[in-house]
Amino acid sequence: MHYLDFLQQVHTRLAPRHYLEIGVRWGNSLSLSRCPSVGIDPAFAIDHELHAPVDLFRTTSDEYFARPDPLEPTGGEPFDLAFIDGLHLFEYALRDFMNTERHSRPGSMIVFDDILPRNVDEAARDRHTGAWTGDVYPVLETLARYRPDILTVCVDTQPTGLLLVMGLDPSSTVLADNYDAIMRELRHADPQPVPAELMDRTFVQAPERVLASPLLDELAASADDVDPATLNRRLREVAGQTLGSAYA
Ligand SMILES: C[S@@+](CC[C@H](N)C(=O)[O-])C[C@H]1O[C@@H](n2cnc3c(N)ncnc32)[C@H](O)[C@@H]1O
Repeated sequence: MHYLDFLQQVHTRLAPRHYLEIGVRWGNSLSLSRCPSVGIDPAFAIDHELHAPVDLFRTTSDEYFARPDPLEPTGGEPFDLAFIDGLHLFEYALRDFMNTERHSRPGSMIVFDDILPRNVDEAARDRHTGAWTGDVYPVLETLARYRPDILTVCVDTQPTGLLLVMGLDPSSTVLADNYDAIMRELRHADPQPVPAELMDRTFVQAPERVLASPLLDELAASADDVDPATLNRRLREVAGQTLGSAYA
């Protein structure tokens, strides 16, 4: 399944009230949104029809989140769904996650693009290929090591996979507190040591299986004030039953 087809179904199932997109380019993914949205990209050139009220910011995500109130366009409401697809370098992708989670609620979903490079060249920090994932992939190990409290599901979409992150804790400072250590440990010079199981996609979920699971419905039904730990237990229970025991 193509990532845009998967994302379209995520939009429909979650029915977010506010959507955030980091990395807009021509608007392919932004055109899927049907709710008030914020799009951030220093060089967008939208040529797709948009179907929602969108506040566009021609700036980098770091600059955007340095504003006094990043939730000003939503009237202070958190983002229910976010797509991180900006600069494909580990430190940028991780900061995008940290900043987005702070402006989300526990039941929000954050989706990363390009988590599954198909080869080492495509994952290079110094881009030299047409299609380029960059080194977004260490985000997966970072979250596994430092944020075992949240649920991550890698989805086998074309061309370069998606990572769904659920059961968020907007008050968590773990990644910010350990940012320098994370960069020392997990950011690598080219050529990238991409784990074989990522390139072989051995542990990823079929998109159809994820969509058939009630996981998205659990998220959509979660109360705004749900406690992150309670929501996480419930999400793991559902994921364990429908996606495999590794998630339980
Ligand atoms: C792969 S494209 C986005 C594609 C789009 N999400 C889609 O699926 O149709 C990546 C975009 O990220 C933007 N970008 C680069 N650096 C960025 C940054 N620091 N913050 C936000 N966006 C950035 C680029 O200008 C580019 O348009």
